[in-house]
Amino acid sequence: MRPLVATINLSAIRHNYAVAKRCAPGREAFAVVKANAYGHGVREVVTALHDEADGFAVACLEEACEVRALHANARVLLLEGCFEAIELQLAAQLRLDVVVQSQRQVDQLLALEIEQPLNVWMKLDSGMHRLGFDDHLLRENYARLRGAKQVGELNLMSHFACADERGHTLTEDQLERFLEVLDLDFDQRSLANSAAILTIPAAHMDWLRPGIMLYGATPFADLGAAELGLKPAMQLDAELIAIRTVEVGETVGYGAGWEALRVSRIGTVSCGYADGYPRHAPAGTPLVIRAQRVPLVGRVSMDMLTVDLTDLPQAEVGDAVQLWGEQLPVDEVASAAGTIGYELLTKVTARVPRRYVQEE
Ligand SMILES: Cc1ncc(COP(=O)(O)O)c(C=O)c1O
Repeated sequence: MRPLVATINLSAIRHNYAVAKRCAPGREAFAVVKANAYGHGVREVVTALHDEADGFAVACLEEACEVRALHANARVLLLEGCFEAIELQLAAQLRLDVVVQSQRQVDQLLALEIEQPLNVWMKLDSGMHRLGFDDHLLRENYARLRGAKQVGELNLMSHFACADERGHTLTEDQLERFLEVLDLDFDQRSLANSAAILTIPAAHMDWLRPGIMLYGATPFADLGAAELGLKPAMQLDAELIAIRTVEVGETVGYGAGWEALRVSRIGTVSCGYADGYPRHAPAGTPLVIRAQRVPLVGRVSMDMLTVDLTDLPQAEVGDAVQLWGEQLPVDEVASAAGTIGYELLTKVTARVPRRYVQEE
């Protein structure tokens, strides 16, 4: 069997959900499980949080169907709403909470014939300029939706663009714009993603929407997951499958992109970009073998990558190699590769077997 596995610690996810809840006592939280629970496996994550989570949030109806099949009662929030009118009927049958972020979605909702009203979350574009109504259109559509027979709860949500950069002025502006429309009588309010849950109590409102923090990664560039009390949920482990010596001036890998400046001991590791390891990770990106960091060298190939073992002479074929996990935060690998933990976690591909553990 190919030595590559993603071990998912479900207790860590439960712990991290509890951290989110502790940050905002008395508030409820939608565990964000879109994109296959950020790569961790939606089935297992929803099951692990079955009795803890107040609700779950997903990106599309297909994901919502999966969550509803796993949890008959939890609130399930469709973060972008329905893409086609026909989806609304199914959303109603599944008792989903739906976002409305455009005039078109409001029109479709108001044209719907349904028995049971839907909980509706109006999305305010408070400054991200991706989805949602400006203040004026929000008020106009609020008047149309309030009291409509298709609408159960009428709620308000918005999303931060820069909550990951602490002290960014746009965050304050967005919070202010959110507060400005609270003269309207919404049943529930939701604004905080992980970054805001962890650092902006004024943004907590009624419902939190923790995503990345559930998986034990940090939303911040300058504040690590461990400092935030989060436990990593995924560990990606491979093995050293070959070792060779290369002479000064010899090169390693595709494109001969790395050249030995000293006689070097090169190890080959059973993980590549087809597993989700970033192909653009530069030489020097860390990996861990025998509790010691070793640098990536040469280009990452489809199924393998290479590391410099010269300063770890005791390394042997068959040694475990940690790509990220307990000893190496995914955020550190992401930062070396010029990306974010979110991308690395969601891109671990289907061919990497997931092994689920419950222990701490
Ligand atoms: C609307 C919305 N809310 C909440 C989240 C969760 O954000 P985070 O993973 O930063 O906690 C996301 C994720 O992208 C989102 O799109």
